[in-house]
Amino acid sequence: MDLHDYKDVAENYDRYLSAMYPQGHDNHEGFQDFYLALAQKYGAGGVVDIACGTGAVLLYLAERGIDVDGTDLSAEMCKVAKAKAATHGLKLNVVAANMTNFCTGRKYSLAIIARSGFMHLQTSQLQRQALLNIRQQLTDGGILTFNTFDPSPTIQAQMMATTPEDYSFRLEYRNSEGQREKIYHAMSYDPYTQLTHGNWKFETLDDDGRVIGERIRPLQMRQTYRSEVFLLAELCGFEVQDIYRGYKGDKEDLSDPSSAAKYSGNLIWILRKKA
Ligand SMILES: C[S@@+](CC[C@H](N)C(=O)[O-])C[C@H]1O[C@@H](n2cnc3c(N)ncnc32)[C@H](O)[C@@H]1O
Repeated sequence: MDLHDYKDVAENYDRYLSAMYPQGHDNHEGFQDFYLALAQKYGAGGVVDIACGTGAVLLYLAERGIDVDGTDLSAEMCKVAKAKAATHGLKLNVVAANMTNFCTGRKYSLAIIARSGFMHLQTSQLQRQALLNIRQQLTDGGILTFNTFDPSPTIQAQMMATTPEDYSFRLEYRNSEGQREKIYHAMSYDPYTQLTHGNWKFETLDDDGRVIGERIRPLQMRQTYRSEVFLLAELCGFEVQDIYRGYKGDKEDLSDPSSAAKYSGNLIWILRKKA
């Protein structure tokens, strides 16, 4: 199964995500309202949801009157997003493309990469290509937002002691055909490439609990340090305007160098395009 081939998971993505985070208790709790507030503040010139997946942000914004397009590398994820939009009576522009070179033919005042889409870029060269391309798609002074999770040495050490085949059980859910599926995952970490890499294993079960199918899905995400984001921004013609600590509105004090040491977790970067 190819790294970027979401054919196997697109139909089931929303299903197993809601099983994974039943009450919205996850690292991304409150993310839709957070992006709605950003769209209301910065999106008057149009919004693009990059790596939109099945449309969690895209649809939320569109349903609330925001002028928003979507784009994702996976044609399958785009298909699911479009189908969901149609059931809500929305006709959205959703384009299958890589964030390193997408171009929809219009500019936007806000580009959103929500829920770790940026972490799927596996090298700093790809991160740079993506930022340079997104800059081109923004209007003057336009805003780009994406999130990174602060790399944690403790978690890195645990993952370095795990091989991509050391599976542990994650959850059980029912797939789009009504069958039971168990998901296992095994994630390792390579400190030289800064890649978290491993596999998700999907086991399909019959009603008696016998395994009748198995799919292995590879996953690679790059861990990016704060200092790298500051350098990338500078290199690609952006300035760091704000860093939010999660989705509740807390911000880092960018004028206080010790501020960064007081928080480790989900950082939501707000970058402004420089002239
Ligand atoms: C974790 S999902 C997040 C989806 C969505 N933003 C959400 O909040 O549900 C990551 C998405 O990034 C997409 N993706 C990965 N690499 C990409 C790239 N280079 N360009 C565009 N999309 C990409 C994947 O296809 C996948 O749909």
